[in-house]
Amino acid sequence: MSNSDVMKKAAAEAALEYVEDGTIVGVGTGSTVNYFIDALAAKRDDIEGAVSSSEASTERLKQHGIPVFDLNGAGPIPVYIDGADEINEFGQMIKGGGAALTREKIIAAVAEKYVCIADHSKLVGVLGSFPLPVEVIPMARSYVAREIVKLGGDPVWRQGVTTDNGNWILDVHNLEIMKPMELEQSLNNIVGVVTNGLFARRGANIALLGANDGVQKHQF
Ligand code: A5P
Repeated sequence: MSNSDVMKKAAAEAALEYVEDGTIVGVGTGSTVNYFIDALAAKRDDIEGAVSSSEASTERLKQHGIPVFDLNGAGPIPVYIDGADEINEFGQMIKGGGAALTREKIIAAVAEKYVCIADHSKLVGVLGSFPLPVEVIPMARSYVAREIVKLGGDPVWRQGVTTDNGNWILDVHNLEIMKPMELEQSLNNIVGVVTNGLFARRGANIALLGANDGVQKHQF
């Protein structure tokens, strides 16, 4: 296992502390979350189940015998556990490297608390080095790309990728995101955008970041 994987796994296992018995847990997507799902299997009989942000996570949860519920009618979600592609000192994030941003953002909105799990390399001063994913309705791809250029970004179509919702992804390069909330809103205002990967309004409440000397906890 690489050093990065050791740190991801440590962060993922530390997140178990936030899972309350008898509740439905919100589960994100990605390599770090995969470690979390594997660890959650040990608590399978203590929780009611999970709501999932992707077909991939649903599949893994079910393989472990963890019931997966539809978000509609699932009731309160005390905690959502998910990774990030970048996170800043305010708990604002870029997400969607795995193309699951829309369902992730929906569950994050519903959940009372967002616990971000990652290795410490994801912590940045300014968001934007990681290309910002934007999920678009396929017929709007070119239009949305032109509008994003007006906002100062360089969109690149992630060819060959279709999201779980049947849409496409534009990865926006060369952004230095000084005002994350404003940019999140501006992108949402473009017709044809389904979701953008800036989690600025609904950021993380807690980040558990794996490092060489253990898991660092940040509270926002
Ligand atoms: C999935 O679409 C993303 O938002 C992931 O949460 C993010 O890319 C982090 O993934 P890793 O845990 O694989 O780094």
